[in-house]
Amino acid sequence: MSSLSGPPEPALDVPAFRAALLAWFDAHARPLPWRAGAEGRRDPYRVWVSEILLQQTQVARGLTYYDRFLTAFPTVQALAAAPEAAVLKAWEGCGYYARARNLHRAAKLVAEQGFPDSYAGWLALPGVGPYTAAAISSLTRNEARAVNDGNVRRVLARVHAESTPTDRWVQARADDLLDPARPGAWNEAVMDLGATVCTPRRPNCARCPVSAHCRAFRQGDPTRYPAPKVRAAVREIRAVALLIGDAHAAVLERRDGTLLGGLMGLPMEELAAGETPAAALARLGARLNAVPGAELGVVTHGMTHRRLHVHVHTGTADLPRTPVSSAALSRLDAKAVALYAERQTSLFPPA
Ligand code: ADE
Repeated sequence: MSSLSGPPEPALDVPAFRAALLAWFDAHARPLPWRAGAEGRRDPYRVWVSEILLQQTQVARGLTYYDRFLTAFPTVQALAAAPEAAVLKAWEGCGYYARARNLHRAAKLVAEQGFPDSYAGWLALPGVGPYTAAAISSLTRNEARAVNDGNVRRVLARVHAESTPTDRWVQARADDLLDPARPGAWNEAVMDLGATVCTPRRPNCARCPVSAHCRAFRQGDPTRYPAPKVRAAVREIRAVALLIGDAHAAVLERRDGTLLGGLMGLPMEELAAGETPAAALARLGARLNAVPGAELGVVTHGMTHRRLHVHVHTGTADLPRTPVSSAALSRLDAKAVALYAERQTSLFPPA
């Protein structure tokens, strides 16, 4: 919503806006490892891995995962040739494992056919949506495609003082502003501005290279834009799990379904509506032919639309154990195993 009173707002000076933002980016671009190489001609494998990783992971955390993944699979051929379990292991802790599975599937296609040479070619690969295809094609081939993500949305909502930017609106504004001479640098300049200056709660307008072009800045309260999205309620899920073994080797199952599907984890049962943890534990014990023991504690794991609370118990059963360090565990399971280790330390403190 724009202000209704006062003199009419000047139209956005697009050439001046582009020049100011790119000059700032040339001086302040973050030195990120996937940014090596000539502008607009970067290594497609590295850019692709980084863009998939950064879809749901903050840059600071993504850096560690990126190094680990690139060390495990330095080339697309190495990734294509790896077994899925090894790929999931290298992705361990990043969450949203469908990303790793799609990346692996797509790597097999690329190892055979070569890297796509256009936005449309990237978009056809599993796990690559419009954002990722725009990022990769602009960064590796200087194709004039504007990215549209949370940072871009916030920056453009403020520049135009738009409270409720729709996806289409953001894409149209981003397409208008994209510098056709330097599309890759342009996209990363907007990302960096959103991540380091035009931040959600405390934008640093004193440091902003484009504040002179920003309607929200002129109005005096940029954080009003964009208005908070009405979030879907988070569904609370309760479950019980058994740690049969110890922190080094335990009974692990491959999960199926949408909840952490495909990963190995402690045997777990979700509580049915109205069911008590004790009843679910008995059900889990009967399924495994195991005897549940003491509760080690409750671990909580937040996902976008769900929050999982898991009562972790010890258990005994005559079942094969898997070394914990060789399995791709979700972060939830890593927390559950850590509970066991903590409990051991509190019962038997080191001398
Ligand atoms: N977030 C997603 N992609 C990025 C990139 N290329 N640079 C910085 N932040 C990003």
